[in-house]
Amino acid sequence: MEAPDIPRLLRDAIRSEGFVRAGFAGAARHRGDSRWTRIAVRPVVVRGERLFQFEFFDERQSFAKNASDPAALLAEALAVGFSNIHVECAGERIEIRTSRKGKVHVSREAIAAGGAAEGHNRAKEHPLREGLPNRLLEIMGIATPDGRIRASQRAKFTQINEFLKQFDHVLGASGLAEQDRPLAILDAGCGSSYLTLALHHYLNEVLKRPANILGVDVNDAVIRKSMERAESLGAAGLSFACGPIGSIEERADIVVALHACDTATDDALAQAVRSDAKLILSVPCCHKHLNRQLKAEGPSEALRPILRHGILRERTADILTDAFRSLALRVLGYRVDVVEFVNLEHTARNVLIRAVRIPDGDVTEFVKEYRELKRFWSVTPYLEGVFGERFRRLVG
Ligand SMILES: C[S@@+](CC[C@H](N)C(=O)[O-])C[C@H]1O[C@@H](n2cnc3c(N)ncnc32)[C@H](O)[C@@H]1O
Repeated sequence: MEAPDIPRLLRDAIRSEGFVRAGFAGAARHRGDSRWTRIAVRPVVVRGERLFQFEFFDERQSFAKNASDPAALLAEALAVGFSNIHVECAGERIEIRTSRKGKVHVSREAIAAGGAAEGHNRAKEHPLREGLPNRLLEIMGIATPDGRIRASQRAKFTQINEFLKQFDHVLGASGLAEQDRPLAILDAGCGSSYLTLALHHYLNEVLKRPANILGVDVNDAVIRKSMERAESLGAAGLSFACGPIGSIEERADIVVALHACDTATDDALAQAVRSDAKLILSVPCCHKHLNRQLKAEGPSEALRPILRHGILRERTADILTDAFRSLALRVLGYRVDVVEFVNLEHTARNVLIRAVRIPDGDVTEFVKEYRELKRFWSVTPYLEGVFGERFRRLVG
């Protein structure tokens, strides 16, 4: 039988109308010198033009390249020699596996159509859309029955939409999109569950990616309200529990925490670490714990002009707390980005910590940085008490 022409098969599938996504992963068979550990491909629409986005992942970060013709980037991806390649098109999934001996096996399977590229792209730009009747937004009290966003809820609507966009951005990088069991998600400090309900809807209904979500909050009243909302929606796979974050140990692939107060954010990160979560998205709230440890005279004379002013000391503590959090996650093997969540006009608490678990990276430098940051400021962040023995041994 004639050997399959893999480059051609892939080129045709990626260029096809119904192309949804492709992924390259697994031990490189014929090139030991490539830095790429994984490559994800998807169609995007930029200024009305349909392009192909190739996202190249190394041990620490990812680099996205767009092209109107996928041929050159595809050749680059194939040159790495990944052992597993999959392509999803409307109605078909193609798997290409290369054995250790170089034998190539191609399998094709019919699947339910996963939505056209532009539809997916539109959903990414506006995960929750306004102007159309939407039961979810109505039940959350964000929109009127005819789909208009209530003026008082505009900021909430924007925050949720931005969070979902960020979520979508890193879901691909985590490798979880390919997992064949439903995603297990913990929303730590879920409050009235705006985000919990929206995330559940977005994954299950828009992306058609089965996901179970548990919302946890210490406040009994908001948990009762969340349960009522979930019941009104008739949504399966949504549950809620009342208690402090960390008290309900539930395995989670993904942990989200939107504006969990002060050290509750650290408790959420700690639970994610214990659960070996592949993905963490956290927008911290107030930062009181470290602020109490900062002195007006500061760790160095050069910082005195900043730290003598209460408001500037408070903001320094905010930055320092999130720097410790990001660094601690790096020490524990996460690739971390700290980005602006939404424009300041929507919330002053607008720093998003995005962390994706990466296997076996070298963390020596991060351990050094952590110790040095701690030594310089003479502070002990709250997270050290909750991140566990392994973390304390690493940085101790
Ligand atoms: C500002 S609200 C944010 C709610 C929700 N995540 C949102 O963005 O709409 C913070 C929530 O965290 C909860 N919370 C604070 N500390 C907590 C803890 N240690 N354990 C569980 N929930 C906590 C509060 O009860 C509150 O509902």
